Amino acid sequence: MSDLKWKKKYEIGHPRIDFEHRIFVDLITRIYDAIAEKRDGGYLERLMYELQKYTEFHFVSEENIMYSIGYPDYDAHVEHHRELLERFSQKKMEMELGERTIEELLKFLVDWFLTHTLTEDRKIASFVHGKKI
Ligand SMILES: [Fe+2]
Repeated sequence: MSDLKWKKKYEIGHPRIDFEHRIFVDLITRIYDAIAEKRDGGYLERLMYELQKYTEFHFVSEENIMYSIGYPDYDAHVEHHRELLERFSQKKMEMELGERTIEELLKFLVDWFLTHTLTEDRKIASFVHGKKI
């Protein structure tokens, strides 16, 4: 996949989380656009840094939502986030060392977003709506 556009099916039914996911997808799209426009490496580096920081913020935000509602799968979900952030920094470092392309890193993030969002995050919305997870 070379691009990521917001689709209705990405919505999990929790307005705050959906809103933050949209921003995440928008950031990825902006990075793909910057690559297509052949923007300088310094700018791409800044965008990747923004994406990394935004992901960190979004995870804390999501974790606080889970915490506040007494979400039963909190620990496992937080562990998923921690793992992703670790792999993200690792791959970003490899990219900076020239061992990995920016496209590879983006593809990893897009795949992760699609699987994690459509499975794990969806369970949070289901729990809020009173369904068993
Ligand atoms: Fe999540």
